[in-house]
Parts: sequence; C-alpha cells; structure tokens
Amino acid sequence: MVRLAFVGCGSIQQVHYRNLTTLDEIEFVGHCDTERDRAQEAAAQYGGEAYTDYRVMFEEVKPHAVYVAVPPYAHGDIEIEAARKGIHLFIEKPIALDCATAKAVSEAVRKSGVLCSVGYCFRYSDTTVRARKMLRGKTPSLIMGLWSSGLPEIWWWRQMDKSGGQIMVQTTHLIDMIRYLCGDVAEVYAAGASGCMNQIKDYDIHDSSVITMCMKTGATASIASSCVAGYNGHKFLDIVTPESSFHLSDNRLTVREDGKLSQYHPKKDMYFEESRSFIEAVRTGKRNRLRCTYSDALKTFKVTAAANESIQSGLPVKV
Ligand SMILES: NC(=O)c1ccc[n+]([C@@H]2O[C@H](COP(=O)([O-])OP(=O)(O)OC[C@H]3O[C@@H](n4cnc5c(N)ncnc54)[C@H](O)[C@@H]3O)[C@@H](O)[C@H]2O)c1
Repeated sequence: MVRLAFVGCGSIQQVHYRNLTTLDEIEFVGHCDTERDRAQEAAAQYGGEAYTDYRVMFEEVKPHAVYVAVPPYAHGDIEIEAARKGIHLFIEKPIALDCATAKAVSEAVRKSGVLCSVGYCFRYSDTTVRARKMLRGKTPSLIMGLWSSGLPEIWWWRQMDKSGGQIMVQTTHLIDMIRYLCGDVAEVYAAGASGCMNQIKDYDIHDSSVITMCMKTGATASIASSCVAGYNGHKFLDIVTPESSFHLSDNRLTVREDGKLSQYHPKKDMYFEESRSFIEAVRTGKRNRLRCTYSDALKTFKVTAAANESIQSGLPVKV
C-alpha cells in the first residue's frame, strides 16, 4: 500500500485525486492546504486527515510520497522538508519562481535520493511519445509554438511576484516540449506586451509575449503566448526538419513526410499516465518510469526564467 499525502488541494490536485483513485493499493493519508476548507473537503471526499501545516502532516501521517501542487511562489521549503524525511515527490510545474530556490530543492532531492517527478504532463501524451520516436535521427531546423488563452480566475496567476506570469505558468510547458523533442536551448531573447488588461485589478503580468530561442543544435525556435483571448486555450507546436514536418496540438499529431500526411490522436490521458508512472516508480524504485526528473525540470526552468529576464533587460540571455 502506497501512503500518499497532498500539499495544495486546489484545481490541478483535483485532477490528480481523480486519477489516483482509479489505481490499486493506494491510501490517501493526508491533505494539506493553507485554506483549511480545501484540505477538509479533500479529506472528507478521499479519506485521510486534513492539515494546514505540511510539517505537522509529514510528522503525523508518515507518507511514502507527496504531491506538491502549490502556486509557484510557495515552492521550496515543502520539497526540502519532504526530501529530508525521505518522502518521494511529485511536484507540479513550474518548480519555483527563482533560480536559488530551484537549485536548493535540486540539491536536497539529489542528496536524499528520493524519487522526484515534475508535472510536465505533455511528456506523457502518446502523441508526444510518437513524435519523439519519429524525430529520432532527424534535424529540426525551425520550431514554432503558440499558447493563446484567457486569464484564469486565480488570484495569484495575475501577479508577477506570485506566478512569474504566463511564461512561467503556461508557456513553460511548450519550452519543456521543445527541450524534450529537439534538445537543449543555448540562448533566449524575449519581448512582452502590456496595456490590454489595464482594467483588471491587481494585474501586473504581460498580456502577450514572444520568445526567440537559439537551440544548441543550431536550430531556431519561437513561442508566442497571450492571455488576452476570451476563450479557454489554443496551443500547438510545429517542428520542421528537412524530411518532414510535425504539428502537435492537444488532440492530434499531424506528420507530413514523403508527400504523405498522417494523423495520430492520443489514446491515453496524459495526467493519468503521469500519475500511473509516478506510483509505479514509487512501488518498484524504477526511476526510468519518470519522464521529467527534478534536474531535467531545472533545465526547463532556467530557459523559462531566462525569457522573463530577457523581457526585463531587453537583452538576449545565455542559458
Ligand atoms: N500540469 C498542468 O497541466 C497544470 C494545470 C494547472 C495548474 N498547474 C500548476 O499547479 C500549481 C497549482 O495550480 P492550481 O491551478 O491548482 O492553483 P490553485 O490556486 O487552485 O491551488 C493551489 C492551492 O495551494 C494552496 N497553497 C498555497 N500555498 C500553500 C502552502 N504553503 N501549503 C499548503 N497549501 C498551499 C492554496 O491555498 C491553493 O488551494 C501551479 O503551479 C500551476 O501552474 C499545472
């Protein structure tokens, strides 16, 4: 039986709860949220005790693993304490707001030897798996991404010092996909737009942004993002190689190769797959079940933070 605890019982944790309840031999032992009601609701629905302090929860319920799904500003001490206690970690992205926190957690995870999976969930989509296989041996030259969405009704999302803005909470998924499919990033240059959302209270993030990246392979990549659109989200990633082109979106992978057009649709739920893989890794100790370790996520984080830094300074940033 795997004893699971949860820190942060908000919207994404509800997705993890639902998926985890379908897996065998799991016990939910504790739910912690600084908003007591949220922890109590989760405990009433899924079993286990409710807490507002993760330290007390770790001490009392002694979990084998913990899901950390808190806003970007709240990462750091939670993970370090869990690692110190030998508790395996599933951590939602982004892993932090600043490099110093991310590096401190990385060091704590490395030292402790606990398993750590970071929630870059698109890595678990079967269309991503297929694209990765098909890209093997090919040389991407041009990579283009788009993330266009509306503004979520979450207070911390719209404050730069709490979320890091759209680049940190959403675009980071596309940055991670680019790294996963096309290799590492060498340099980042970015620009941000403001002025369309002035009517929104306590809002100080960029409305839109464009990121240009030089890949270590010599390829070029760009991602345009916006949170001004009044709909739920439209995102894709295009990858062009001399032999073929790939278009990845939420509901399909389209490949043009040898004059043929092929389409693949995901058959598995990526959120289910990432939890299934994490629990399997905890049960068996097999680290190769995890597609995004903390040290890998740290590399994605550095590129993401470099984009924000470049917007601030107006200069390119080497990663
Ligand atoms: N992988 C994905 O597809 C995906 C989707 C949505 C959100 N996320 C990420 O998950 C994280 C959480 O997002 P959300 O939408 O669930 O936010 P949310 O605000 O709905 O939930 C976060 C919860 O954490 C709690 N919290 C804050 N600080 C805490 C602390 N120190 N201890 C205990 N609880 C604390 C809050 O009270 C809140 O209930 C964000 O970083 C977000 O980017 C990932």
